[in-house]
Amino acid sequence: MTRPSLLSASQPQGRGFRQAVRRATRHDHDTSEAGFAPFLEDPATHLPAFLAAQRGALDALNRAASGPPLPEMAGLIPALLDRLDADCAERGVTPPALVPTQSLSPLAVGYLVYGSNLGLAVIRKRALDAGIATLPRFFAAEDRRAGWQAICARLDAIDPDSDEARILTDETRAGYAIFARAAEVAFRGVPA
Ligand code: HEM
Repeated sequence: MTRPSLLSASQPQGRGFRQAVRRATRHDHDTSEAGFAPFLEDPATHLPAFLAAQRGALDALNRAASGPPLPEMAGLIPALLDRLDADCAERGVTPPALVPTQSLSPLAVGYLVYGSNLGLAVIRKRALDAGIATLPRFFAAEDRRAGWQAICARLDAIDPDSDEARILTDETRAGYAIFARAAEVAFRGVPA
């Protein structure tokens, strides 16, 4: 990648697992972010591929989730999928069907879903700057800080040197890989 990723632009330090997982998976984030680079460079042209990739990845992430659901996740993924379905249908976009390769804990899924929402402000701005007058429903700004903070508190309750921490880090990597794969399929036509 020729430019620093947008996540790398802010690098808070901290000793808890919440910061540790961010540091350990930053490269994975940046690989996923790079997969979506065509959209960032030319949002109007690549909006259909962006929506297809997000829908395919979020659906695969949702199907990979296994374990007792977290209260702060209640209804969030179904609501996002509904918006993406409407956005895709309106534009005649067929999202890729991705098969998740492993199951993921609800906390890893929650971290990825709430965390990716942090990047949405950048994405929304790029789309508006590019003159996309009617933003997709998926881009709607919503205050999700309480949910994100609940996820961060759960992460910080985990001992960074524990097996649980290692498993969660691996699961987060696997989740990022789903988004990177979805982007390859949607933007570059790589078979699902
Ligand atoms: C267009 C592509 C993307 C852009 C521009 C982007 C941008 C960003 C930015 C700027 C942040 C930091 C926000 C902050 O600290 O306040 C962030 C965080 C994050 N993004 Fe992305 N992102 C992109 C793609 C993705 C994808 C595909 C995922 C997959 C789930 C993802 C997951 C996350 C997560 C989990 C965090 C939280 C990291 C942490 O603080 O622990 N992002 N992103």
